[in-house]
Amino acid sequence: MKISLVSAGAAELNVDALAIPVATGQRLTGAALELDRAMGGVLSEMVVNAEFRGRIHEVLPIPAQGKIAPRRVILYGLGAVHDLDGQRLRSAHHELVRASRTWGYKRMAVLRSEPLGADSLKAVVEGCVMGTFERRSRQTGAAPERREIDEVALVGFGGGREREVVAAQENGEATNRAREWQNAPANELTPDALAQEATQIAQRHNLEIEVLGPAELKAGGYNLLLGVGAGSAKPPRLIRVRYHGTSSSPGGEGGSGRMAAPVGRGEASTENVPVLALIGKGITFDSGGISLKNPENMSRMKDDMSGAAAVLSAIDVIASRKLPLDVMAVIAAAENMPGPSAQRPGDVIVSADGKTVEIVNTDAEGRLVLADALTHALRNGATHLIDLATLTGAATVAIGHAASAATSNDDDFWSVVDQASREAGDRVWRLPMYADYRILLRSQIADLRNSEYGEAGTIMGGMFIAEFAGGKPWAHIDIAASAWNTNDELTTILRGPSGAGTRLCIELAERMALRGAELRAMVAR
Ligand code: BES
Ligand code: ZN
Ligand code: MN
Repeated sequence: MKISLVSAGAAELNVDALAIPVATGQRLTGAALELDRAMGGVLSEMVVNAEFRGRIHEVLPIPAQGKIAPRRVILYGLGAVHDLDGQRLRSAHHELVRASRTWGYKRMAVLRSEPLGADSLKAVVEGCVMGTFERRSRQTGAAPERREIDEVALVGFGGGREREVVAAQENGEATNRAREWQNAPANELTPDALAQEATQIAQRHNLEIEVLGPAELKAGGYNLLLGVGAGSAKPPRLIRVRYHGTSSSPGGEGGSGRMAAPVGRGEASTENVPVLALIGKGITFDSGGISLKNPENMSRMKDDMSGAAAVLSAIDVIASRKLPLDVMAVIAAAENMPGPSAQRPGDVIVSADGKTVEIVNTDAEGRLVLADALTHALRNGATHLIDLATLTGAATVAIGHAASAATSNDDDFWSVVDQASREAGDRVWRLPMYADYRILLRSQIADLRNSEYGEAGTIMGGMFIAEFAGGKPWAHIDIAASAWNTNDELTTILRGPSGAGTRLCIELAERMALRGAELRAMVAR
């Protein structure tokens, strides 16, 4: 899909459909009103008569009958202006494009008119690109229900913004790539296949890549990851892709020879430049293991690698955009299966950083593999950590599908994550980590237990992982609900795989790169 900024008048565009945004309770204004006049007032008639209300996901095609160059006008709804955040804005455009694909339009235009501000360009492009997503079918000879759009012209967004369009298009496509991986069946996307996907990304951008298999995992003491993967015939993988975005780090790990970052105002003094670790849970199938899940909806557990999908897609964009920041993606990939060599409830395992863990429930496997993945990131010089994981069913209870649930040990780092989330239209909501809960992690026999805390399931998942963050700024994003909306009644949240966390990670890296550059400029002065 080609997306371009055009300066021609909307009425002159030779397109199949021209889309005009409308918010509830608002009348047409500006360029939309001019078009309405050219069409003899039919647009405002639909709005004034409340046949079109501007509700989010409402789309109404109207024949232009030769009065203007576009063949159709589409009124599309944004909902109430005070409800319109980045995520809903993207969702509205996702729906606009999906509807247009159903109707078979090839060339489209989107008019920027109130209530869309000039700053909505990124959200509009990302939403439209996400609307092109179609789960790849494995059906033989099935005809696609929706067609492809060739071109989208953006009218009235201002000139000279081509780079913003390209970047937003990349973000949308990265989100869709994550969605495709989420949807891939577990017999296709095994831990090794995930490692191959990572290798392809690394090769494309000439990045450092390391894939640890069982022998190396054993040598490194990554017993929690090994334990989770022990029941499966498909061996686990610990995948690390490293992007060097600052010239001062020519391949060396651990900080030697790096430019020292200055001590900024209220900024923690780190000796090295920041190294952001994007850590993804990559359970390619979660049967629960010996603590076997209920068969109902178990097939959905093919998406238990959604965190891995998000961080892989993100580092692909970060590297291709050559962001001035050091970033690594770490993926703990395994299949959680019962079997003769599977770990048992009651087993005690020594983690890579030496803490002992009682496996009370083999179905609480995400926190186990993430614990070792955090240790691996720290061993490789990470200074800031963010993990993304389909970790707890309780996230659906606490927050539902409309946002990811988060925990963090650092208010400053969290505020950057929070801002990135708003900018990316990829919602996160932080839950508290009260010290009082820490006692619930205790085991009679080991340092920690992985389950049976009695309450606060999503928070406890975060608090378990926090034990392995080495005191570094860390945020945990539980995407168990946000990665895949299964609630058919919740229609304005993307249904099926959403790519949750992809744009969040990209935006976080962008913000950290920007801050690093500002700090460097401050010393240079
Ligand atoms: N992958 C699941 C969490 C999940 C559940 C994701 C539903 C998406 C939808 C995770 O590994 C899991 O099984 N969590 C347990 C933890 C419990 C045993 C402490 C859960 O949520 O029940
Ligand atoms: Zn799981
Ligand atoms: Mn599980």
